[in-house]
Amino acid sequence: MAVLPILKYPDPVLQRVALPVKGITAETARLIDDMVETMYAAPGVGLAAPQVGAPQRIIVLDVDYENPGKNLLKLVNPEIRRAEGELLWEEGCLSVVDFTAEVKRAARVEVVGLNEKEQEVSVAGEGLLAVALQHEIDHLDGKLFIDRISRLKRDLYTRRLKKMLRSGKPQAESPRLMI
Ligand code: NI
Repeated sequence: MAVLPILKYPDPVLQRVALPVKGITAETARLIDDMVETMYAAPGVGLAAPQVGAPQRIIVLDVDYENPGKNLLKLVNPEIRRAEGELLWEEGCLSVVDFTAEVKRAARVEVVGLNEKEQEVSVAGEGLLAVALQHEIDHLDGKLFIDRISRLKRDLYTRRLKKMLRSGKPQAESPRLMI
């Protein structure tokens, strides 16, 4: 297993729609293992394949950060089957440096997909799990959480980011949960 570099906004790979996985090969299994290791090392509670430069519909999540590994989820070709209610959650993302914002999401979701053995699985979640599932599936559709906030807030952030990148100032990682 290997820790892979995580692409950061505005990398164009993050804005592309990822392709469905046709079959889980040894290479796919290796990518999934590397994604899990990269997520834990970051540390984060979720990671999508495009974030490590692989434009494929694969996500990994572990929102139970007090018991790492116990509730690890690996989902291939995940799709939201059901979404209910509404919540606001302060989100951060491993691909969006030094910024968090409140995003409106469904409060409860049910997601179907395949596990790494190509078996159909269904995951129902609320709270952070519901948020993380929606956030990661957004990554597969080329969407970041900053695409779900007001244009004003997004423009303020992109201006601040440009300034940060120009000055070469070290970027602080937020202590919040990164998804
Ligand atoms: Ni993210």
